[in-house]
Amino acid sequence: MKTLQDIYEQSLTVTKEGKVATYIPALAAASSDHFSVSICAKNNKEIQLGDCHATLTLQSVVKVISFMVAANHHSMDEIMKYVDVEPTGDSFNSIVRLESDKKKPFNPMINAGAITIASLLPGESLHDKVKSVTEFLEAILQKQVHINNEVYLSEYHSADYNRAIAYILKANGFLSSDVEDALQVYLQLCSIVVTVSDLAKIALYFATDGNNEYYSEKAKSSLEVIQVAKALMLTCGMYNASGKFAAFVGMPAKSGVSGAIIAVVKNSKIEGLQGPMGIGLYGPSIDSVGNSVAGIHFLTKLSKEYDLFCL
Ligand code: DON
Repeated sequence: MKTLQDIYEQSLTVTKEGKVATYIPALAAASSDHFSVSICAKNNKEIQLGDCHATLTLQSVVKVISFMVAANHHSMDEIMKYVDVEPTGDSFNSIVRLESDKKKPFNPMINAGAITIASLLPGESLHDKVKSVTEFLEAILQKQVHINNEVYLSEYHSADYNRAIAYILKANGFLSSDVEDALQVYLQLCSIVVTVSDLAKIALYFATDGNNEYYSEKAKSSLEVIQVAKALMLTCGMYNASGKFAAFVGMPAKSGVSGAIIAVVKNSKIEGLQGPMGIGLYGPSIDSVGNSVAGIHFLTKLSKEYDLFCL
């Protein structure tokens, strides 16, 4: 049987097969050969592989959290009036389906749905909407988080596609704020700074259905919303490779173009850890759809070796 270390070392060599995202200038500075993994179980038990102190921005991983905050604040029925829960098979910033019959964004894991969700967050001001998500995250992570302003501004000044999406959403009645406010909230949330251990803790939140004695009141969610979030991760979380990931890895997961992945493990055993677990991965070298190449390789091998397929 391959050990975690074997799988990690093999995955490190795969970093050569991808490229760091360059469409946001501030992300282009990441090291393409970095790869780190954290696996967390309850009671703060953690296995770390590689340099887990490196910081990164959440990018699309935040879409799951924003969805949860908005859905808990309104209700699933209300949210479904603005955004569906159907996979698209299109790239994350595709605009094409906003011209389909219903015009409603297909799901909250693609940019169109996430921009709509940003406009639906609790609070009147941009600041309050961003705070509703950072407070929820802070309650899970038990620490304060901040926004990387350089990444945010870099995104904001190269957001032509997202701005176009937001204008179409607004024209069709699927934005509940003005375009610039929704964009700023969405892009600030993408620029929240975390470590790979934080990613594992976010994944653990889903693995435990939000049940962990150290979470404060602010991390509360209805079980229905957590279940929908996991279903969205499984069907739409890995961009237009979500089907393959579900078929060959078989766990709810969400990736971001920074090279972040969170993956949710139900009751299993991985070396010294046992029970529900969260896996955080950070490998900035990504493939053509936007997923960390080393991260995908690691999770595919790990799922097979440790029998983590959950379907
Ligand atoms: O919208 C963007 O361009 C990014 N800030 C989010 C990128 C990302 O991770 C891909 N999204 N689904």
